[in-house]
Amino acid sequence: MEKINAIITGVGGYVPDYVLNNEELSRMVDTNDEWIMTRIGIKERRILNEEGLGTSYLARKAAKQLLQKTGVSPLDVDCVIVATTTPDYHFPSTASIVIGKLGMENAFAYDLQAACSGFLFAMDTASALITSGRYKRIMVIGADKMSSMVDYTDRATCPIFGDGAAAVFVEPTTEDLGWKDSYLRTDGKGLPFLCMKAGGSVCPPSYFSLDNRMHYLHQEGRTVFKFAVTNMSDTCALIAERNGLNKDNIAWVIPHQANVRIIEAVANRLELPMDKMMMNIQRYGNTSAATLPLALWDYEKQLKKGDNLILTAFGAGFTWGAAYMKWGYDSSK
Ligand code: UT7
Repeated sequence: MEKINAIITGVGGYVPDYVLNNEELSRMVDTNDEWIMTRIGIKERRILNEEGLGTSYLARKAAKQLLQKTGVSPLDVDCVIVATTTPDYHFPSTASIVIGKLGMENAFAYDLQAACSGFLFAMDTASALITSGRYKRIMVIGADKMSSMVDYTDRATCPIFGDGAAAVFVEPTTEDLGWKDSYLRTDGKGLPFLCMKAGGSVCPPSYFSLDNRMHYLHQEGRTVFKFAVTNMSDTCALIAERNGLNKDNIAWVIPHQANVRIIEAVANRLELPMDKMMMNIQRYGNTSAATLPLALWDYEKQLKKGDNLILTAFGAGFTWGAAYMKWGYDSSK
């Protein structure tokens, strides 16, 4: 029997219309465009500011575009995995809301929580489901409404994050393409450095937790920065080495969009010029699980069948990793 590989066959994306730029942020907290551009590299981010809309709205807009672009019927999707840290509700899953709204009646669906590494982890899972031979079409969505947990009085975190979602189909092929290799890691020592302190089962919502602003994203930026640089660079180098990838045969690196300086460090380690690093952090900021698929969405037209891509991410947990994917189609057609 021929070996089954898992390829991406289409990309859809969505970012909300509202643009929160550095000038507006500078009126909200003590910051300025120059600091944000030099320390992070973000000019503006998109915010979902309509009341009553959550992450499933972003996810289903991206999913709908993917269905339209590919011409796939919602009934022909076997499984939907939504990578998110900002689900609509603790339960049910955001994925169940997405399939309900879009009529994906034959799919099972669940959320995957690996913070900013969520899309990478979900792609590895989807690839395993496809290569098992049991499923034919999986939709993987990275979606986060980060504005729902950002403290817009904290200048250390509020410039970083934005809202967005993107979705891909993962399907089988017998061609030598697709998800080839991955190295994913998790280390629970990251908890104190990047978390939301209350709202879960350890510290359910209370007047105490509200008074102490414990329902916002908490980040110790410098520590997270160091771990992100080291771990993204190391795993990229490992994936490159064991797959014979180098500056001459890597078409693109798709890095998590957390900080331009982190992306530069990864490029240096791989000895790649910055124009091989996919970047949209300037326009969207850090959309957590959505950064990788949003980059694919933005760069789709430049991708060619057989392109060697390295994807890499780092997030709360800590979670991190890198993967090697051979792109499956000529996207300009
Ligand atoms: O996606 C999940 C993974 N997350 C990440 O990868 C984020 C990793 N961390 C980072 O990207 C960076 O650490 C930050 C962007 C969060 C912060 O940049 P930094 O260069 O590490 O700044 P810092 O926290 O060391 O702060 C340097 C200075 C401080 O002032 P003093 O103490 O030196 O006087 C801060 O108070 O910059 C100050 N500062 C600001 N100044 C103007 C912090 N935030 C701001 C701000 N505007 N928004």
